[in-house]
Amino acid sequence: MKLTYHGHSTFSLVTSDGARIVIDPWFDENPRADVKSTSFSKLDFIFCTHGHGDHFADALSLTKRTGATLVSSHEIAQFAALKGIQTAHGMSIGGGFAFPFGRVKMTPALHGGMVDGDESGRFTTIAAGFLFSLPDCRLYHAGDTALITDMQLLEGQVDVALLPIGDNYTMGPEDAARAVDFIRPKVVVPIHYNTFDMIQQDPEAFREMVGSRARVEALEPGETLAYP
Ligand code: NI
Ligand code: MN
Repeated sequence: MKLTYHGHSTFSLVTSDGARIVIDPWFDENPRADVKSTSFSKLDFIFCTHGHGDHFADALSLTKRTGATLVSSHEIAQFAALKGIQTAHGMSIGGGFAFPFGRVKMTPALHGGMVDGDESGRFTTIAAGFLFSLPDCRLYHAGDTALITDMQLLEGQVDVALLPIGDNYTMGPEDAARAVDFIRPKVVVPIHYNTFDMIQQDPEAFREMVGSRARVEALEPGETLAYP
């Protein structure tokens, strides 16, 4: 699979059998993004870890324009239906589903649940992460989260872990390095940092904290990681 970073927590992914996926689409107002949402004309799936704008802002428009299936929490899928997207796939934490490209499980995260654009407050949800079991890579996007002991349950199930290191809104580098201890992935990509003043971090310092426990790939927006 090929994974391209677009800054903050946003990724696009092409699986070995050609499925085109975007995770946490925040392109147009993302100060670190290398592309705008309009650069994607066709997508198969869009995964959203939670409803905060910096993960969800372009989700509805991108879903409508590209014909993708939006996958998120049950509540966000209900909100999408209200906004004219009848095909969203709702999940809940602990549940997995066999998509055509591989199985995806929704994993716990400890974080806020507001849904951006929901004036009613009816669709407040819980934040999550995703574990993608692709034929050639097991990929974990942690979403926005504190360090949680539930991450210990992922040990042995993850090849590439996308972990927030920004601090303030999510775990910082020290806790993210502890998450590496819990999960034991082969590769770690730090995310959710250097987008705003409040989440400035040095990925080299994080690399030193992780040491020999995993390979840290600090991707710049626009860079692609191929795995294996
Ligand atoms: Ni958030
Ligand atoms: Mn966030």
